[in-house]
Amino acid sequence: MNMPSQTLTPLAESLRPQFPTLKVEFDGTPLCYLDTAATSQKPASVIGAINNYYQTKNSNVHRAAHQLSSLATIEYEAVRQKIADLISANKSEEVIFTHGCTESINMVAAGLDPQIKEGDVILIDSAAHHANIVPWQQLANRTGAVIKPIPLTDNFQFDFKAYRSLLECEPKLVAITHVTNALGTLNPVSEIVKLAKAAGAITLVDGAQAIAHLDINVQEIDCDFYTFSGHKMYGPTGVGILYGKYDALDALLPLLTGGEMIKTVSFEETTFGKLPNKLEAGTPPIAEVFGLGAAVDFIKLHLTQAHQQQERVLLNYLTDKLSELTDIEVYAQSEQNVGVVAFNVKGEHHQDIGMLLDQQGIAIRCGHHCAMPLMDLMHIKGCCRVSVGIYSTQADVDTFIDALQQALELLD
Ligand SMILES: Cc1ncc(COP(=O)(O)O)c(C=O)c1O
Repeated sequence: MNMPSQTLTPLAESLRPQFPTLKVEFDGTPLCYLDTAATSQKPASVIGAINNYYQTKNSNVHRAAHQLSSLATIEYEAVRQKIADLISANKSEEVIFTHGCTESINMVAAGLDPQIKEGDVILIDSAAHHANIVPWQQLANRTGAVIKPIPLTDNFQFDFKAYRSLLECEPKLVAITHVTNALGTLNPVSEIVKLAKAAGAITLVDGAQAIAHLDINVQEIDCDFYTFSGHKMYGPTGVGILYGKYDALDALLPLLTGGEMIKTVSFEETTFGKLPNKLEAGTPPIAEVFGLGAAVDFIKLHLTQAHQQQERVLLNYLTDKLSELTDIEVYAQSEQNVGVVAFNVKGEHHQDIGMLLDQQGIAIRCGHHCAMPLMDLMHIKGCCRVSVGIYSTQADVDTFIDALQQALELLD
């Protein structure tokens, strides 16, 4: 492929042909996709793996005594091992397939019910996605536990000083975000977890935005639970992961009960099976798991250190270009940020900016980003969010900046 010699993003450019959606045009205007934090585009290998499952292996897993089902089951379990390897889990039983990150967090929040009592403190980081707030609130409503948000610094970064003093109340649980979806801020999760553990807390890290950009090592982070979705890591929708340390997972009350998760059932009582089946009631998202397996292969091959470095360079380039424009406020700027740049145009509504950009083929996200408490802290109703992925190029950023300039001229 012919690439401009001075481009900042040669690796991304070489991957683009693998993503069919990136070729979409609207009335001759090519799509400029800068909304990967909402969902990533899928490489042909992922789409092909789903197709291939339906065409050559379609059967239920774990259930039948026939060859087709054995074939599907072996491959399904092989994907579990691939995920375990990707995040350096101790064993594949520590990887639970769910329908997405939201369900994964809900499974922990519901499953912890018997371990939480009235007055227990749950700490949540203030930049969390609603998926990492509402399930804990529901848990608190059921048990009488108390939610305390961990404050942010003036630049909307995790406030360690405030966190240390909150830990003095010996929280039962600390739920944090690895990379925040609204701002792209990177939380030093190993340090946060270490302090939480020293205070005796159970820890959950929401990795929905981290998994597609960083190497994740759950041993190093040492959290009890780590959650993410397939669709944000170049895999399909409808599948997610709940990683947990074996004993922490085993202590969860299953959120869903029914087939597959049992050892024995009578009308008098049921005994549950072992992990991972115990937490995977019913027919799992089999085709999606196959697609996820292909996404893991893709990430392992392409999300190299060199590529991660290139993404950082691109994000800094984007931040710099945006900051050069007048009347733009870029939030939570830091060289550590991952995947996302959040901004507003002074005096303009974020939705208007999104609409004017959309008319030029630019796909970004505008709104509260499922982080209303954070928007309140920032004293804004919402903002524009530009997010990049493994296929995002310098040309994408240049196209976006040109389009934004045109929008600003229109509004002038
Ligand atoms: C940080 C974060 N956590 C959780 C979620 C929820 O993920 P899903 O909607 O795939 O369940 C998202 C989705 O945007 C997210 O960005």
